[in-house]
Amino acid sequence: MATMDVLSAKFLRSCLHPHAPFLPCPSLPSRRYRQPFSIYCRLSTSSPSSSSAATTSEGDANQDLSALLSDESTTAAPGAGSRTKRPNSGASSIPSGVRLENISKSYKGVTVLKDVSWEVQRGEKVGLVGVNGAGKTTQLRIIAGLEEPDGGNVVKAKENMKIAFLSQEFEVCASRTVREEFLSAFQEEMGVKTRLDQVQAALERATEDMDLMGRLLDELDLLQRQSQDVDLGMVDVKIQKLMPELGFVPEDADRLVASFSGGWKMRMSLGKILLQDPDLLLLDEPTNHVDLDTIEWLESYLKIQDVPMVIISHDRAFLDQCCTKIVETEFGVSKMYKGNYSEYVLAKAIWVETQRAAWEKQQKEIEHTRELISRLGAGASSGRASSEQKKLEKLEKEGLIEKPFQRKQLKIRFPERGRSGRTVLAINNLKFGFGDKILFNNANLIVERGEKIAIIGPNGCGKSTLLKLALGTEKPQEGEVILGEHNVLPNYFEQNQILLPGRSS
Ligand SMILES: Nc1ncnc2c1ncn2[C@@H]1O[C@H](COP(=O)(O)OP(=O)(O)OP(=O)(O)O)[C@@H](O)[C@H]1O
Ligand SMILES: [Mg+2]
Repeated sequence: MATMDVLSAKFLRSCLHPHAPFLPCPSLPSRRYRQPFSIYCRLSTSSPSSSSAATTSEGDANQDLSALLSDESTTAAPGAGSRTKRPNSGASSIPSGVRLENISKSYKGVTVLKDVSWEVQRGEKVGLVGVNGAGKTTQLRIIAGLEEPDGGNVVKAKENMKIAFLSQEFEVCASRTVREEFLSAFQEEMGVKTRLDQVQAALERATEDMDLMGRLLDELDLLQRQSQDVDLGMVDVKIQKLMPELGFVPEDADRLVASFSGGWKMRMSLGKILLQDPDLLLLDEPTNHVDLDTIEWLESYLKIQDVPMVIISHDRAFLDQCCTKIVETEFGVSKMYKGNYSEYVLAKAIWVETQRAAWEKQQKEIEHTRELISRLGAGASSGRASSEQKKLEKLEKEGLIEKPFQRKQLKIRFPERGRSGRTVLAINNLKFGFGDKILFNNANLIVERGEKIAIIGPNGCGKSTLLKLALGTEKPQEGEVILGEHNVLPNYFEQNQILLPGRSS
């Protein structure tokens, strides 16, 4: 097909030549976004008067047309695509996915990653774990090309790999319909189509300027080659197939994105990514703010995907369900464990124990040697003492076993308050909603001293609103919300809480 496209542009060029004979048009391969070849034929035979009907002066028109021309149209080699090429900087290679080799990264002199090496291939799902700030997102950003590492290699299976990155903030546009949102996944291809249409329209207007027409034809040829990978006729079919897989019903296609909850927006973001058939899928905390049903759905959905995948999550059960490999980042250094999260916890515990035993043994040896040196230090045994000393120095320089680090459990202590009354919160016959949406209708709840309550429910059912009603920041439309009178001080830790300067925790 590539040859055909190049031929068609060449053919058109020949038609442009003032002395070229009029030739019948060959038919083009059928792609929905390609204009029928006959348009070009009309061009070559259109009368000058038709072009003079344009409202702008010829000079202005030509200026507009020139804006349509990319630099590439005159320089690109046949078959060159529009995607940016990133050189494969690694010395080694990988058949699919990506490999990080000895990656390091610092920000303003603070080392975040010291020595990170791991890989993910087709069929593998890597879980990236580590404490807040360990550098997990940084690794994904480096793979996606959004950050440059200071050292090391990012070895990709091929150049121009399609890397999909689902970040913590789901990128959807509230004012689009669901169908429009999915269509936006093909933005690049749609852009090429729009340019194709523009260039073809421009060709119709530029009949008197042979030089400009020639350049426009080069541009047309380039755009045709760029659009070969995508069959826009398949876009609708793909979207219709994907929507039920993501749990959407056909009527959802015309609903506004804004009317869906966070969990559904996550499904849209994921769907948009999958529509582009990525070679690598990077997911940064995809389960944040989504309800239990959606997490379960996501687990089973990701499990059947074959694309190499890297998942950052603090949800152990989720990692257990999805991952085939765990990479832990601690103090800027990565360690790779085969298996899911539970297997990692077990393997790590064994490693820590073995390491601790080896460290303790070595420490005892060192202590013993030191004692020996001080005992033999003087007199006839000083020769042996100095050889023991040399042994000790060599060990301390080269062979010291690292003490395994065990993080202390984080403890949160709330300030002491006097004992409260028995009833801490009473909600009686509560009615509350937003607009037509009723969240609570005749709801009742009693919270007693010492109780710890989990509020569960699907996204958008009103869990946060219930807390706001308890705090008094929302008022019931009917019924009452009563806080206990004695020593009850409500406090609220919001989602995505940001501590602003001057605001205490
Ligand atoms: N652009 C940047 N400029 C300065 N510091 C940065 C930048 N990006 C990341 N950092 C720092 O690098 C460290 C690692 O950040 P990163 O977001 O990768 O951590 P993380 O493991 O994803 O944490 P979390 O679990 O909280 O999401 C943090 O200390 C962060 O403040
Ligand atoms: Mg992060």
